[in-house]
Amino acid sequence: MEASSVGGVFEDVVKKEMIIVLLGPPGSGKGTQAAYLKQYLKIPHIATGDILREAVKNSLPLGVKAQEYMKQGALVPDELIIEMMAHRLEKPDCQKGFILDGFPRSEVQAKAFDQTLAEKGWTISKTINLTVHKQLLIERLSGRRTCGKCGTNYHIKYNPPKKMNLCDLCDGELYQREDDKTETIDRRLNVYQQQTAPLIKYYQDRLTNISGDQPKEEIGRVILAKSNDKI
Ligand code: AP5
Repeated sequence: MEASSVGGVFEDVVKKEMIIVLLGPPGSGKGTQAAYLKQYLKIPHIATGDILREAVKNSLPLGVKAQEYMKQGALVPDELIIEMMAHRLEKPDCQKGFILDGFPRSEVQAKAFDQTLAEKGWTISKTINLTVHKQLLIERLSGRRTCGKCGTNYHIKYNPPKKMNLCDLCDGELYQREDDKTETIDRRLNVYQQQTAPLIKYYQDRLTNISGDQPKEEIGRVILAKSNDKI
């Protein structure tokens, strides 16, 4: 969807500072929506999974500590994530707001984030919970392909690249994430139920549920509108 097609909603949204938290199980579309929203809101998309994967790729101390948990589909320990996010949120690009994708992911992380918000005088603008049926989550995760060069996500059925296995944007080769293999997907969905789903209760008084079973452009439009309290 082009910026012009969301018209007035888009123009109103970008006037405000925004902190958007995207919650939802693996495969619910957090990354897809964050990438879409940042075009309109002009604020960074902060994906803990992407930061961790980059740290693993570059053999940074954080990556070395995190990689085994990620490979198993388990959560990386809270203290590592909280420290990593404390550094990220200090960066100047966060001053006008940001979109969080994959954080917080446990009650300990949510409490640490609340403390950061209080210290900085920031308020969450919208906490969005994307809901998607389990069978669709499995289909989305097992069919996801990611560009090894620029990180853009595709789906073999729902969002295929123009040229087989090559990124539309940079011609980089597409690969399947190690944790998107069937056996690890199951584990990730269980970990989500046990450790992350309780955040729905934690944020219940400020949570907006949106069905993630719709076309991605429609979900993006609803999130933008709700972020501006138009719907
Ligand atoms: P992370 O990278 O955050 O993975 P995740 O939460 O499991 O989320 P995904 O990236 O798998 O899914 P998504 O919701 O972003 O869906 P997407 O938009 O890509 O974390 C990986 C690992 O890092 C964790 O397991 C853990 O080890 C560690 N980690 C990260 N954060 C942590 C934290 N805070 N604490 C502790 N550990 C942490 O979409 C999926 C597919 O569906 C794509 O192919 C897409 O094209 C397609 N799709 C999306 N939307 C639609 C739609 N509306 N219609 C059709 N297809 C769609």
